[in-house]
Formats: sequence, C-alpha cells, structure tokens
Amino acid sequence: MIRGVIFDLDGVLTDTAEFHYRSWQKLADEEGIPFNREMNEAMRGLSRRDSLLQMLGDRPLSEAEMERMMARKNEYYVEFTHTMGPEDLLPGVVPLLEQLRSHQIAIAIGSASKNAQLVVERLGIAPLVDAIADGHSVEQSKPAPDLFLHAASLIGVAPPQCLVVEDAASGVEAALAAGMYAVGLGPTNRVGNAHAVLPNLDGVRWEDLLDKLGLKSQ
Ligand code: G6P
Ligand code: MG
Repeated sequence: MIRGVIFDLDGVLTDTAEFHYRSWQKLADEEGIPFNREMNEAMRGLSRRDSLLQMLGDRPLSEAEMERMMARKNEYYVEFTHTMGPEDLLPGVVPLLEQLRSHQIAIAIGSASKNAQLVVERLGIAPLVDAIADGHSVEQSKPAPDLFLHAASLIGVAPPQCLVVEDAASGVEAALAAGMYAVGLGPTNRVGNAHAVLPNLDGVRWEDLLDKLGLKSQ
C-alpha cells in the first residue's frame, strides 16, 4: 500500500526544466562552450555541479572557476523564477495533490534543486506539501537513492510504501535504488525503467495510477 508520494519538482510539477536549460545555454554561449537542447537532455535531473561537469566535458577548470560559473547559471535561473506563479503549475498537479490529501497520503518534494523551496513557494503549493527534500538535504544527488530516502524519512513512510514521480532517467534510477515505486513522466527512452510511464499528470486519477502499478487503493 502506498502511504507517501514523493514528487520531483522540475519537469514534474512545473516546467522549470526549460528555465534550467535556458540558463545553461546562456552561460555556455557566453563562455563559447558548444551546447544545445540535446546535450541538455543528458543533464535533466542532475545536480548543478554534475550538470556543469557534463557541460564542460573534458575542459579543465579550477574549483574557483566552476564555483563562479555555477553562481552565474544560478543567477540566470533565479531571474526566471521571479516571474513564476501558480499559473506555472503543470496541468493535473493540483487535482492529484488534492486526491492524495483526501486519501491521507503524505506528500513530499524530492528535488536536486537548491531552489526547490523558493519554487514551491512561488507555485503556491506549500500548504499541500508535507516535506521538502532538496539540493541542500543530502551529499549524494540522483541517481543515488539518498534524496528520496531522506524525503521518505521526513514524512515517516517506509521506502517500499513510497511512490516517486519523476521526469528524469537519473530520478527513476534513484527511486528504484531506494526500493520505491516509480512513475516516469515523458518518453520511454527516458523514463522507461519506471514501473509505469505517463506523458504527464494531466487528468491522472489516483485510483487509475494505482491500478496501473498493480496496487490497490487503501
Ligand atoms: C533539478 C533539475 C536540474 C537542476 C538541479 C539543480 O534536478 O532537474 O536540471 O540542475 O535540479 O538545480 P539548482 O536549482 O540547485 O541549480
Ligand atoms: Mg525533474
């Protein structure tokens, strides 16, 4: 029986994946580093540092230079978040959160982002969320299971009774490594390892999702 649902944030509850992409693209353009949407796909769900390392490839940079680049990328990203509001929630998110609430299922955010708290506030869903595990919570980021295990402990639910909703391959991997159920949002070549795959959360009913996972409603 599922007692807790852990949502990734970027690309699941809101389309900040696009803002992350545009921020990296701006940094790459300024630095003369070849970069495009396709390369960005490989960074989906990765921490800021892992994303930068991926973007740099074998270009050697000092720690200080890397810190400066990460800070700049974050400035660009935070600028985007200033314009965000509840209208940026993806379709189906609020109805699903409300269904979970009515079934007494705990709700957590499990995001690698250090800006997760800020984005949750801007989206106006803080009252619907019981706990936030973010980029400040653990050392090892996705695909390690640590962030989701931390989220589970915050809501007091055992990992096998947790369901993770993710849009990134690294996130699905992290959920499986944590011994949790995983629902992947997006193409199967990205999230096909999840127990169930959906295009997005639009119109998703909790009972139907449990059915899809071969689980029963409580
Ligand atoms: C999320 C996004 C990634 C992003 C990471 C770190 O997982 O999917 O694209 O790199 O968070 O975000 P931050 O806001 O800390 O730079
Ligand atoms: Mg994501």
